Amino acid sequence: MNKKIAVIGAGNVGASCAMYLAEANFADVVMLDIIDGVPQGKALDLTQAGPVRGYNCMVTGTTKYKDIKGADIVIMTAGFPRKPGMSREDLIAKNAEIVGIAAKNIKKFAPKAFVIVVSNPLDLMTYHMQKVTGFPKNRVVGQAGVLDSIRMRAFIAMELGVAMSDTNAMVLGGHGDTMVPLPRYTTVAGVPITELMPKDRIKAISERTKGGGGEIVKLLKTGSAYYAPAAAAVDMCKAIFNDEKKVLPASAFLSGQYGIKDIYIGVPVVLGAKGVEKILELKLTKSELKALQGSAATYKKLIKVVK
Ligand code: APR
Repeated sequence: MNKKIAVIGAGNVGASCAMYLAEANFADVVMLDIIDGVPQGKALDLTQAGPVRGYNCMVTGTTKYKDIKGADIVIMTAGFPRKPGMSREDLIAKNAEIVGIAAKNIKKFAPKAFVIVVSNPLDLMTYHMQKVTGFPKNRVVGQAGVLDSIRMRAFIAMELGVAMSDTNAMVLGGHGDTMVPLPRYTTVAGVPITELMPKDRIKAISERTKGGGGEIVKLLKTGSAYYAPAAAAVDMCKAIFNDEKKVLPASAFLSGQYGIKDIYIGVPVVLGAKGVEKILELKLTKSELKALQGSAATYKKLIKVVK
């Protein structure tokens, strides 16, 4: 295939990304990891599934950054996941180092790539990736809003007994405890959930969404979620590749929108062939705006750690 996607990190999230990408069959996939043998082994395994899963793309594994040369999109997943009792912010220092190394190599070997960041703490790692690569801000985006909103969509579908595909959700802010689910902009077949559910159930679903990652960490005990995070990243890849102009909440660089600037944070964006093509400024109530600005302020304080 003449398109190439590099996945940095061949752990749970990285390998799941590679699997979903292979099944989507629109680009060759190269997985990179620091542990020799792991990316190569997982890539070979995925390639061997091709004949029955119906894909023809090549999946390869490597430990050498030169092999990501010319990648059109890079998905950054390398880094430590949370364990029970940890917040995503506890990962800052360790993961900033890993993201920094990857960013330098992406700049060197894939200077035209779009970068989708999944490593946590998401908004800070996306900021760090953009700073170190020096790429235009529309070419570096963080995945989390998509993940948080598909979690909310799943909870709504489970609650109301409706098709997952009929749901739509908008979750803004940072990918952490301060995220801001917006029920007014969350719908089932176009109908706001505020018309379909009592207030207390909406509140419960919003709270479950905020703690969605933590709920899985508690269950797994040894790491964090990976299927939904990978599915969200691959959805973003498709939006860029196919120039879908898809409206998604994602971590984007703000320069004054919503009264916030010089930070990456979750907002609705239009994602297409130019990456983040537009940031949509929704009309927010006073309390929604306060929550979004509060979330941004939390991350702004932490930026100095990645600097
Ligand atoms: N370069 C390349 N790969 C690295 C590096 C590095 N410098 N350091 C670590 N890795 C690899 C590890 O070897 C491992 O295979 O990153 C992979 C991480 O995989 P997991 O431990 O399975 O973690 P995962 O669940 O995939 O989460 C990765 O995504 O959702 C976030 O919070 C999560 O930050 C975490 C990241």
